[in-house]
Amino acid sequence: MNLMKIKDLHIHGKTFLAPLAGITNLPFRLLVKECGCSVVSSEMVSVKGFFYNSEKTMALLSSKNEEQPLSIQLFGSDAELLANCARAVQDMKAAKIIDINFGCSVKKVVKQGAGVALMKQPELAKEILSSIRKAIDLPLTIKIRSGWDSSGQDAFRIAKIAEDAGVDAIILHPRTAGQGFKGKADWNLIKELKQKILIPVIGNGDITCVKDAHNMMSLTGCDAVMVGRAALSNPFIFSQIDTFLETGSYQDPSHGQIFSAMTHLTQSYINFFGEEIACRMLRGRLSWFVKGISGCSSFRKRLSTIESGNQALTLIKEFETLTG
Ligand SMILES: Cc1cc2nc3c(=O)[nH]c(=O)nc-3n(C[C@H](O)[C@H](O)[C@H](O)COP(=O)(O)O)c2cc1C
Repeated sequence: MNLMKIKDLHIHGKTFLAPLAGITNLPFRLLVKECGCSVVSSEMVSVKGFFYNSEKTMALLSSKNEEQPLSIQLFGSDAELLANCARAVQDMKAAKIIDINFGCSVKKVVKQGAGVALMKQPELAKEILSSIRKAIDLPLTIKIRSGWDSSGQDAFRIAKIAEDAGVDAIILHPRTAGQGFKGKADWNLIKELKQKILIPVIGNGDITCVKDAHNMMSLTGCDAVMVGRAALSNPFIFSQIDTFLETGSYQDPSHGQIFSAMTHLTQSYINFFGEEIACRMLRGRLSWFVKGISGCSSFRKRLSTIESGNQALTLIKEFETLTG
């Protein structure tokens, strides 16, 4: 069995779902958990939104026992606000891990001094992490990028500060702030980081298949892998990776498993978001699953017009029968 530990949390498996704003909501996390993911992550949650009790922000904090261990990711740049919010999340018993966003390079976030902007403010980073550490007992992680240039020096410096402040694991997505999602993630920086700190390092970036996960672990020695975009079209990637790491082989999901996942996700979106919003979201979400299945373009076309849950479920059933 692949086991790891972050602080006192025992984790079964080596796979983490990456936080994806607008995507890793409760229904998607439940699906991914069912598909064998070891640790699921929330979308990033604004501590300002939490402070103002914003309805949208509070919805991002809803969780279920079945998905635990869940990591809730917070973003902000005010040490006191971050610490208070982290403590409140701990008191709500919503998550088993608190993660702080040091990697988001979206203008709106960087402009407020949060996300990757924190990687060029080591003093503030230290204050933030020490305050949060004092405020919570839960395992604390940070998710960082390589920094503001490709050398990785920003990442190494922030990771050391974090380790000294009592952070329990570092997630590294080795692209620079300016890169966004362009170019390639530099996995060598994950290897270098792993040699510089003692706490667990979780590698992230460009894992598109089981082989990539295995290669990243072999090359870098990272303790676990975090997968984002690849999970959208293949939520089964998590159990595939863990099975491969344990046994050296894995199976692709069956046709039935893929369609059953689509049906479950549809029902769970409708229950969570209500039919109208769910349908709008499902037009995009369901189209990811059918990547590579013959006839998927006409399915996608019909999907783009769905207006009711029944229509969506019928369409899935029809496509399953057609392609089965
Ligand atoms: C649509 C989208 C939303 C994202 N939202 C977040 C976020 O809320 N917090 C965060 O730390 N990273 C976020 N990321 C970055 C991912 O967590 C991850 O680091 C990145 O996608 C690289 O991993 P991948 O190649 O496995 O997708 C986002 C990425 C995408 C594509």
